[in-house]
Amino acid sequence: MYKVIRNTKYDYIGQSYSSSYPNLHKYPATMLPQIGIDILKELNISKGRLLDPYCGSGSSFSSGLECGIKEMYGCDINPLAVLLSKVKFTKISPGKLLETRKAFRKSLYDFIKNERNIEALSRPQITNIDFWFSKEVIKNLTVMKYFIDKITNENIRNFFLIPFSETVREVSYTRNNEFKLFRMKSEELLNFNPDVIGVYFKKFDNTFSSYKNFYLPKLKDTTKVEIKYDKFNSADKHFDVVLTSPPYGDSRTTVAYGQFSALSNEWLGIDYARKIDSMLMGGQKLKENIKKGVIADFVSQIDSVDKKRALEVSAFYNDLGSSIKEVAGSIFKGGKAIYVVGNRTVKNVQLLTDQFIAEKFEENGFKHLITYERALSNKSMPRKNSPTNEKGKTLNTMLSEYIVICEKVLN
Ligand SMILES: C[S@@+](CC[C@H](N)C(=O)[O-])C[C@H]1O[C@@H](n2cnc3c(N)ncnc32)[C@H](O)[C@@H]1O
Repeated sequence: MYKVIRNTKYDYIGQSYSSSYPNLHKYPATMLPQIGIDILKELNISKGRLLDPYCGSGSSFSSGLECGIKEMYGCDINPLAVLLSKVKFTKISPGKLLETRKAFRKSLYDFIKNERNIEALSRPQITNIDFWFSKEVIKNLTVMKYFIDKITNENIRNFFLIPFSETVREVSYTRNNEFKLFRMKSEELLNFNPDVIGVYFKKFDNTFSSYKNFYLPKLKDTTKVEIKYDKFNSADKHFDVVLTSPPYGDSRTTVAYGQFSALSNEWLGIDYARKIDSMLMGGQKLKENIKKGVIADFVSQIDSVDKKRALEVSAFYNDLGSSIKEVAGSIFKGGKAIYVVGNRTVKNVQLLTDQFIAEKFEENGFKHLITYERALSNKSMPRKNSPTNEKGKTLNTMLSEYIVICEKVLN
């Protein structure tokens, strides 16, 4: 067993994500930036290049920024995640944003005065559009997107897309407090008549104020944050530290990042939006179970009750293992790997992902230093799931989170 120490310093009881850096857009299973800040400080890391290979909405970059790191790189294969991370860490002039807001608002209102203008716009390619949006909402979103696309400056356009994506979610028939796509009850639909443009500008103003007050002041001219829409590729560059929170399992049975982002991604013009969950870790089927290493025993226990689930679990660890190999190969000697992860339960078997991560890094030139166990009280993710997949049978699965720390010892 790789050593695990319960460390209450990392619990942050009563603290929410936003007490440090407010998120500009909802995203599932975000990491508390405070974790990254304190762990980087504890390890005395304040310079060099930081990598987050599964960066989501970019919490690790907030941590890096707070600790003085100036060069950061990230990847994610969810386009919405890439957009969120990019906007947070790109310097944009607040004056230009407000100027564009004014012009955008005027164009929008002038345009919608004439119904024919709206009719001339082509209908967006959204799966089951009428199931998720009312006719009036579709019209308003279409006009808004039309004018956002006309913004020539890419950074400003990206900024405008963030409140747009939040608006898409809020004015759709989805139940907004769920990560998966569920439609409201039919009796709720009758009274659901959102003021789309009003919602958009309210969201814009909130996004603007969070960006201006919390992100912009920390972005120096020398700060470089580069986010790629891709899987991490070790040929990219070499890094001094990797700070990340990888997925806990495949998207289908844990956190459905793709499904959460599907409507937004489709409105943003991503034509494979519905396929994203199958592109993420563990999304592709495997023919054989994992037979070696710390996870093999757990897989075999699951296999004895459910062969399909065992293969799904194996597919996820297979992908996570390959990805760690890539990441490990691109860290300088003496560099650190910090992975924040939960150990989920499948078919009543708890999978020790923290141990798997330590093992994979050790197989790839690293030495495990320590793993801290922290109480999980803030993460915005399902606290209960159905580990046996039996209807109605739920269990509090992850009450702890693990901060796995390894150091590269071989070249
Ligand atoms: C736990 S979330 C990261 C959350 C992030 N730390 C934050 O605070 O927002 C995991 C992320 O991994 C991404 N992901 C899953 N499989 C991936 C892969 N093979 N390559 C890159 N990103 C992946 C998902 O899209 C998701 O955004």
